[in-house]
Amino acid sequence: PLAKPVAEIPTGKLVTLRRKAKTCRACPLWRDATQTVFGEGPASAKAMLIGEQPGLQEDQSGKPFVGPAGHLLDRALDEAGLDRDTLYLTNTVKHFKYEMRGNTKLHKRANASEQAACRMWLAAELLRVQPRVVIGLGAMAAQTLFGDAFRITRERGQWRELGEDVRGMATWHPSAVLRMPKPDQRHQAYAELVADLRDVVAVLA
Ligand code: URA
Repeated sequence: PLAKPVAEIPTGKLVTLRRKAKTCRACPLWRDATQTVFGEGPASAKAMLIGEQPGLQEDQSGKPFVGPAGHLLDRALDEAGLDRDTLYLTNTVKHFKYEMRGNTKLHKRANASEQAACRMWLAAELLRVQPRVVIGLGAMAAQTLFGDAFRITRERGQWRELGEDVRGMATWHPSAVLRMPKPDQRHQAYAELVADLRDVVAVLA
C-alpha cells in the first residue's frame, strides 16, 4: 500500500528478504555503507513503524533505531504502552548515507532515486508482515505512504485507509523531535508523538 511506484517486489520470508537485501546493489549507497540495515521484528507484528534511513550507529550495528533517535523512540513507545518487541521496525531506505567532514561521517538525506530504488524492500516487508497499522515516522516515510503532498505539520496523527483493514498514519520523526531548537517545541512534539503512538494502541485493541 505505497503511494509511490515500486518496480518488482522481492518475495520470500523475512529471513530470505533480509538475506537478499544484504547484497542489494540497486542504488550506489551500498558502496560506502557498512551494511544493509533491514527491518526487525516478528512477521506476525500488527503494527509496522517506518523511519527514514539508518544513522551511524544503525550502520555499525546493522539494526534499526539503536542510536539517539532510537532511544527517544524507545522512551515514547514505553510511555505509549507499546512493546518494541511486538512491532516491526524498519526504514524507507536501508543504507546509511553520509559525507565526510574531517573524520566524522555526517548524515545525508537519501535522494529521490535512492528512495525509489529501495522501495521494493519496504513493499516486500509490508506484503510479508501484513500489518494492520502502518506508522510513518517523518516526511520521507509519510510521503512514501501517502504521496509527496503529505505534510507532517498539517496531517500528523490522522488515520487514513491504506488498504482493506490496513490503517496508516504519520507522526514526528524522533530525530526531528531531537533537533527542535526550542525546549517547549521539543516537548510538545514529543507529547504529540506519544499521543499518536497511544492511538496505535487504541486502534489495535
Ligand atoms: N533514524 C531513522 O530514520 N532510522 C533509524 O533506524 C535511525 C535513525
